[in-house]
Amino acid sequence: MKAVVLAAGLGTRFKSEKPKVLHEILGKPMLWYVVNTVRQGGIEDIAIVVGHKAEEVIEAMGEEYVYFHQENPKGGTADAVLASIEFWRNSEDYLLIINGDSPLVNPDTIRNMQRFIYMVEEYEKIRLGGVILTSILQDPTGYGRIVKEEGTDRIIRIVEEKDATPQERNIREVNGGVYMFYIPYLLEALFKISPSEKTGELYLTDVVAYMVSKGYEVRSFMASDPTEILGVNTRWELSFAENILRLKLIKFWAERGVTFHTPETIWIEPDVNLSKNVEIYPGVMLRGRTKIGEKVVIKTGVLLENTEVEESVVIEPYSYISDSLIKKGAKVGPFARVRNDTVVGENAEIGNFVEVKKSEIGKDVKAKHLAYIGDATVGEGTNVGAGVVTANYDGKEKHRTEIGRNAFIGSNALLVAPIKLGDFSYIAGGSVITKDVPEGALAIERSKMKIMEGKGRKLLEGK
Ligand code: UD1
Ligand code: CA
Repeated sequence: MKAVVLAAGLGTRFKSEKPKVLHEILGKPMLWYVVNTVRQGGIEDIAIVVGHKAEEVIEAMGEEYVYFHQENPKGGTADAVLASIEFWRNSEDYLLIINGDSPLVNPDTIRNMQRFIYMVEEYEKIRLGGVILTSILQDPTGYGRIVKEEGTDRIIRIVEEKDATPQERNIREVNGGVYMFYIPYLLEALFKISPSEKTGELYLTDVVAYMVSKGYEVRSFMASDPTEILGVNTRWELSFAENILRLKLIKFWAERGVTFHTPETIWIEPDVNLSKNVEIYPGVMLRGRTKIGEKVVIKTGVLLENTEVEESVVIEPYSYISDSLIKKGAKVGPFARVRNDTVVGENAEIGNFVEVKKSEIGKDVKAKHLAYIGDATVGEGTNVGAGVVTANYDGKEKHRTEIGRNAFIGSNALLVAPIKLGDFSYIAGGSVITKDVPEGALAIERSKMKIMEGKGRKLLEGK
């Protein structure tokens, strides 16, 4: 089966510069979810109909798909399907058509709809005109209403809200915007329907009444979960959809052994990977390709982006780690900032207000307070005191700092890169280090301290 995704509409109700289907849900465009559902539903051959701001949509979705341009973005959903006619017209199969603004459809639903069609063909020996995903909603406002032959799953027609009579508006079964139509019948129907008198749009939903008039049956397929069919027409519906997806992801991981404290405050994106016995506290954000090992504890306010965290790590509150690797047993935070391909070694401790950028921190290193470590390697077991700074930038270029193992860098030392400090080197607190320090050496750079008895009191008392 082939699939056509409709993504050409103007999205007027969104009030946006950006194409509606590119607005993000948990860090990915709404359209990504639709396409992903189609693929996971077992359909690989996918065309996307673009129109309004087509270039932006193509740029965001990439080369993997075939694109068709709908010339008139107000042409309506049937006009959009017609725009992709070359993609599907020669096939004798069914065609999946799905709205680009239906991001919550479950891949299993796509599989089950296909199965349903083949079951009907197999056991009832009927070729259907189509199957349409529907659901019964408390509040059907805005959706096309499903008019059925009573007591059956046979649809007679779909009435758009704008065209519905008051009685039809009372129908609570709605069109979910996911269709599988038998291509030869679809082709015939698309050329027979006429634009809506109210809006001038050619409605895909109108093919149903035409098919039924020709004796081709169209059946409803009820979504297992009513939230699945949510169409995102407004920003508020986007927030709503994001919330539903977020809670689904949290439930998925909770069932695999992750504890979420106050789940309503936790953000987790679809590519994140968690392990058993992970514990996540309120207000945590896990973004991109973040991967968390077993028994990791992530405390409140932490933000992790594209970061791998190995087992038994503890991330203390309000730390922000991006594009980095935190090895087994390490401890990061509170209020730490780790970024740009940093590796924090096994059992290392990166503490309060420490920033680490593009650095390799060895096993058992301790940098527990107020330091900046940038473009550096820090050998195993080295201690980095409070306020240590690697001066890695000379105003033009970045330079590296290499610190050996078991070194001691006293508080407030300034290491002017490029520089090398040997194993077991000892840097006295407050020193400005501008020359390499050999293995085992002590380096101290301070002016001699003076004590002048009584001078302090004199100054203070103005004498
Ligand atoms: C549509 C259905 C409605 C259904 C609802 C489910 C029609 C006529 N109505 O209504 O029965 O209950 O979806 O969410 O189909 N699009 C184009 N070209 C166009 C117009 C729209 O590509 O000319 C695309 C849009 O980008 C969008 C999708 O088709 O992704 C649906 O269009 P939209 O205008 O949102 O339809 P609804 O009014 O929500
Ligand atoms: Ca819609």
